Amino acid sequence: MDRNLALEFVRVTEAAAIAAAVWVGRGDKHAADGAAVDEMRARFNQIDFAGRVVIGEGEKDQAPKLYTGEKVGKGKRPVLDLAIDPLEATDSVAWGRTNAISVIAAGARGSLLSAPDTYMDKLAVGPQAAKVISLNYSISENLRKIAKALNKKIGELTTVVLDRERHEDLIKQIRKTGARVRLITDGDVAAAIATCLPDSGIDVLLGSGGSTEAVLAAVPIKIFGGEILCRFKPRSEADCDSIKKSLKKIGVANINKVFTAADLAKGDKLTFTATGVIDGPLLNGVTFGSASIQTHSIVIRGMSKTVRYINTFHHQK
Ligand code: FBP
Repeated sequence: MDRNLALEFVRVTEAAAIAAAVWVGRGDKHAADGAAVDEMRARFNQIDFAGRVVIGEGEKDQAPKLYTGEKVGKGKRPVLDLAIDPLEATDSVAWGRTNAISVIAAGARGSLLSAPDTYMDKLAVGPQAAKVISLNYSISENLRKIAKALNKKIGELTTVVLDRERHEDLIKQIRKTGARVRLITDGDVAAAIATCLPDSGIDVLLGSGGSTEAVLAAVPIKIFGGEILCRFKPRSEADCDSIKKSLKKIGVANINKVFTAADLAKGDKLTFTATGVIDGPLLNGVTFGSASIQTHSIVIRGMSKTVRYINTFHHQK
């Protein structure tokens, strides 16, 4: 992938993050999301490339902008597939909580799984524990193996789980092992990626969350050499039928298939760009100063495995 393009995308997530950040705590998630979507789309269309959204705001009839299948960019080349979330963790912004980011994952045509938009069970870890986990193991077996791989006592492990009723039993099982549990209200993309960052203080992400979010997290996790194991978790029988149909289209016959990071994000022409909207385990959020607006972003390239943190002061006043 074009080097400069990876850095171009940071302008896109910065603009989307700033637009969303204006809505922090104002109780309107649709306005926050809409502002980020409009900005991301406008900025994409200023860049010389041919992007196709494979994971976006939804199907065309439900999402007028940045819908799955939409073409963006003002050029003919390079041709890229995009998985985007202009605002990941919309509720966090609406209610002024923590952990919201604006995200773009990009790769060569066909490299990102165009996953049906539903839930998946997820287990994510960093590189040291990448080879020891399995969705077929019990929670305690996984945590024991992860602790050993990280050379930690199980009581020193920090797990992250979305604070949802559906995770009551999972949380009980984790607590029984003695591992620490951090509950987050939203934003499992940042939490999953944080398992790969040695200073994040997060070792494991567990539980079910959005399937499209799994693809977004898989891109940097794969580049870092970590692992995210995921399995579709239908919400109803109708959901199950629709997942089966979508999977059939992409050649997957078994709805219980366990997807790895490499299944969700193929090849090495991958990039991941994100800007913080509100502080979280991956990035700090947007701050509005008296003379400038400050943003914090991360840009990761698959080819070189470089990780860049970009701290930008936007003089817009
Ligand atoms: P949105 O930005 O779409 O609101 O997603 C936020 C999020 O917390 C994701 O990080 C997570 O994967 C998903 O929602 C979990 O879904 P639910 O809120 O339905 O449990």
